[in-house]
Amino acid sequence: RIAGPCGMVLFGVTGDLSRKKVMPAIYDLANRGLLPPGFSLVGFARRDWADQDFAQIVHDAVKEHARTPFREEVWNQLSEGFRFVSGDFDDDAAFEQLRRTVEELDQLRGTGGNMAFYLAIPPSFFGTVVGQLKEHGLADPGPDQWRRVVVEKPFGHDLESARELNHILDRVFPSGSVFRIDHYLGKETVQNILAMRFANNMFEPIWNANYVDHVQITMAEDIGIGGRAGYYDGIGAARDVIQNHLLQLMALVAMEEPVAFDAESLRIEKQKVLASATLPPRLDTTTARGQYTAGWAGGEKVQGFLDEDGIKKTSTTETYAAITVNVETRRWAGVPFYLRTGKRLGRRVTEVAIVFKRAPHLPFSQTATEDLSQNALVIRVQPDEGMTMRFGSKVPGTAMEIRDVNMDFAYGGSFTEASAEAYERLILDVLLGDPPLFPRHEEVELSWKILDPVMAHWAKKGKPEPYDSGTWGPSSADKMLARDGRTWRRP
Ligand code: BG6
Repeated sequence: RIAGPCGMVLFGVTGDLSRKKVMPAIYDLANRGLLPPGFSLVGFARRDWADQDFAQIVHDAVKEHARTPFREEVWNQLSEGFRFVSGDFDDDAAFEQLRRTVEELDQLRGTGGNMAFYLAIPPSFFGTVVGQLKEHGLADPGPDQWRRVVVEKPFGHDLESARELNHILDRVFPSGSVFRIDHYLGKETVQNILAMRFANNMFEPIWNANYVDHVQITMAEDIGIGGRAGYYDGIGAARDVIQNHLLQLMALVAMEEPVAFDAESLRIEKQKVLASATLPPRLDTTTARGQYTAGWAGGEKVQGFLDEDGIKKTSTTETYAAITVNVETRRWAGVPFYLRTGKRLGRRVTEVAIVFKRAPHLPFSQTATEDLSQNALVIRVQPDEGMTMRFGSKVPGTAMEIRDVNMDFAYGGSFTEASAEAYERLILDVLLGDPPLFPRHEEVELSWKILDPVMAHWAKKGKPEPYDSGTWGPSSADKMLARDGRTWRRP
């Protein structure tokens, strides 16, 4: 899979996302030989830069964040296609300049006039930029050309604003040309959920309420908010992670088998899960939120959220969020999905744990099985990519004693192929026009529909519960599971 002639216009070149993810991914794709030789990258920003200044910015980002080794010849070929257009988003002259640049690159580098417009900018600017692209003829492809738009989250901050953003995009780009990035779907281990479920016969028969007790989906980070106060304050953990990454994970775990592995078939099945998801009636006991205070992380003393640069001392933004979701289908009736995420937790780990019901009967003495917990299948999304199956096994010896053991599949032990970084995979898919790994607007809106009542409930509550950095979150999260007679896994 190698992209055909094309280029990309990047809005938001000075942001974190461009520097840490988008620019390095473009270089890595070029280095792996997956971009066309004439691939061109146009940066657009307010800075008064020349093409060389822009190239320097990309160079620094690549040196710092690319995953593949730096090779002079790859860099030289790639950077010859770098251009910079300086201007504000409402500056007509700048967009005229952009149009000329795109045309020139077609002549000079053979991009075929195929362009992806990557909006790595706050959503409040989507309307202006998309309107300008339309106005200056950039959104309309010529014969045999394509024009696509790539948007990053936050995709709105509630259902209503997400709908508005979708209207803005729909007015200009046909739905097949809009690529919404949820980078979790670009992760190998996330795509493997579908391979594991639907390429095998042994999981599906037990993948339902007859056997599954509950599901825990965890995305824990040890980092704080870093330099992202401007983005994070007022957004918080639930909007930042649950609305997108965790609900997408839930949809992949809970969905029925799609009729084919194409975008439309996947959307139909994921959408059914999201449409059948409900919240339990009592949100005060079935959700939890917290805010980190000072503590220890990675052997270092770290400050609390309210002391972070750029955070208001009175901020009620949550840095930890947990919710309970029911998927009201025959397959999942009565099986709660517990979703949690937080910053400054014990360690960085993302996993999906399918926890099974206890055996209906144990023909052993009570003492033989007192250390036995429930069977579980844990999909380790990161960092230790793989899967673990936990089940009971006899402890060697003369007495019958049964204890938990783990059976492990580790990517490193089974594959020599390195997994591509999520952004590499997704950017390549955009350039190929391959949409299965991009959530459609229906999914985005349904996810907000699930989360909106939680956000409204929390908004009435004032301050989130404090938790020490380096711990596993607020005590209300433990109580939330304890009420159901369950406990969170300590990954
Ligand atoms: C982003 C969130 O979507 O995902 C960040 O906005 C978070 O807050 C990041 O740190 C985590 O991504 P990953 O791939 O490191 O798990």
